[in-house]
Amino acid sequence: MMIRTIPLDEVAQHNKQDDLWIIIHGKVYDLTKFLPEHPGGQNIILKYAGKDGTRAFEPMHPIAIIDRFLSPDVCLGQAAVNPASEETVAELETEEEKRVRLAREGMPKLEEMYNSFDFESVARSVLKADAYYYFSSGASDEISMRENHNAYHRIWLRPRVMVNVAEIATMTTMLGSKVSMPLYISATAMNKMAHPEAEKVLTRAAGKCGIIQMIPTLACYSLDDLVEARVHSDQPQWFQLYVDTDRKVTQRIVQQAEAKGVKGLFITVDLAGIGRREKYLRQKYKQENFENTQSSDDHKSKSSGSTTSAPVNKRRGTLVDPSLNWSDIAWFKSITKMPIILKGIQRYEDAVLAYKYGCAGVVLSNHGGRQLDFSPSPIEILPEVIDALKCEGCDPRKDFEVYVDGGIRRGSDIFKALALGAKGCGIGRPSLYAMACYGDEGVKRLLEIYQNELEICMRLMGAPTIADIKPEMVDIRNLKNHFVSSPTDYLAQQTYEKLQPTRAADGSNSSGGYQLSKL
Ligand code: LAC
Repeated sequence: MMIRTIPLDEVAQHNKQDDLWIIIHGKVYDLTKFLPEHPGGQNIILKYAGKDGTRAFEPMHPIAIIDRFLSPDVCLGQAAVNPASEETVAELETEEEKRVRLAREGMPKLEEMYNSFDFESVARSVLKADAYYYFSSGASDEISMRENHNAYHRIWLRPRVMVNVAEIATMTTMLGSKVSMPLYISATAMNKMAHPEAEKVLTRAAGKCGIIQMIPTLACYSLDDLVEARVHSDQPQWFQLYVDTDRKVTQRIVQQAEAKGVKGLFITVDLAGIGRREKYLRQKYKQENFENTQSSDDHKSKSSGSTTSAPVNKRRGTLVDPSLNWSDIAWFKSITKMPIILKGIQRYEDAVLAYKYGCAGVVLSNHGGRQLDFSPSPIEILPEVIDALKCEGCDPRKDFEVYVDGGIRRGSDIFKALALGAKGCGIGRPSLYAMACYGDEGVKRLLEIYQNELEICMRLMGAPTIADIKPEMVDIRNLKNHFVSSPTDYLAQQTYEKLQPTRAADGSNSSGGYQLSKL
């Protein structure tokens, strides 16, 4: 079949809600019918109506998503290249892109990164505003998000001296795989907003540093790509699953993962709906409404008011099944031999149920504080989870593995979690920020920092191996007490981007605000 080449000025004429063409990766699509169904909302498509939308599409979606959601007849042909400039509209630099380019030119050297917060601090200026606010947002008042890390401050150490710590070994196992330290890279979505090679960067860094990467359902690269990106053929990987309302889709994904040698199936159980992430919502609103007033009043009047929920809210229409419940575990066990771990457990009763239903473990997690605000920090509930499992005759670390994620920013946080019975810890945002700033080398350095911090902590604690890390090495008397005064954590507080109220356009009563979002 002949592919039609469509001139750009013809595409430009189809720029309305009821007649909408858009260019993505050089092809012209008629998205008129798809517009109301777009999981990310209509505004973003309307913004590029009659134009090249590749720059907005590219960071958010794997290319294969077009085939998954659109019928082939919406592809009208090939977009003509602008003969005058040899480039399409997408190649012109926006103000925001210019800001990012300049910020990148002024980045500190990788060797100047001394801790996980340093990466976040740099990422804040070198990421585009929508990416930064998507990654950094927590739910509602972001109390749980901050508590995740702060709770570690309520655990003090009880160092043991006069122990031979000449050699320190951080190696351990996770679900039977040997790893260099008890840390893994957890699943996060929209990784292309951080780096064009997205999860592939994380696969390579995890492989080089000898730790496990959990592949997300919402990865920007296919499972095949991420398996291919392994540094060595037996590099262990896990898979994070959002359970689709269409269980056939879920079955296919799970079985593909198993066939590719994935070592553990982590079913996310804390996403029956999406938490309200206000920094992101506010950023999106500003961006879309500002740009809409620039491009088309027609679009503005029709599209306003659609940003009251995060785009991810709508996208989960079928990708996440809110009916998921305990009776589904038997079905998962019937379709896979991979160990099943529930990710997003927030109280000890559910950890015990997971054990009784035959799961191989749990991740204590509140989704990085992105879901239910005031869900407890994983480290706070860890001791009661371990106690409750022991009461059931379970030996955590042996029969059933307990992981924690959320707020792990220091090697000593890993130490504390292990002392309290965790098998290992997951990180999400820190690896995204490291990748956004410095790519492969950034993530590698981040992991080395965690490793070094853990080693020095083990040495000074008199615990030369992982097996030597014991509950009596930590003092948790204040862990449940949220009113303990402790020294101010300046580093974390200055890195943390404060939530801001909305304010008048003239900036009155303002002492700063969303600097990044000023367009
Ligand atoms: C999020 C989902 C996609 O937290 O995991 O954004």
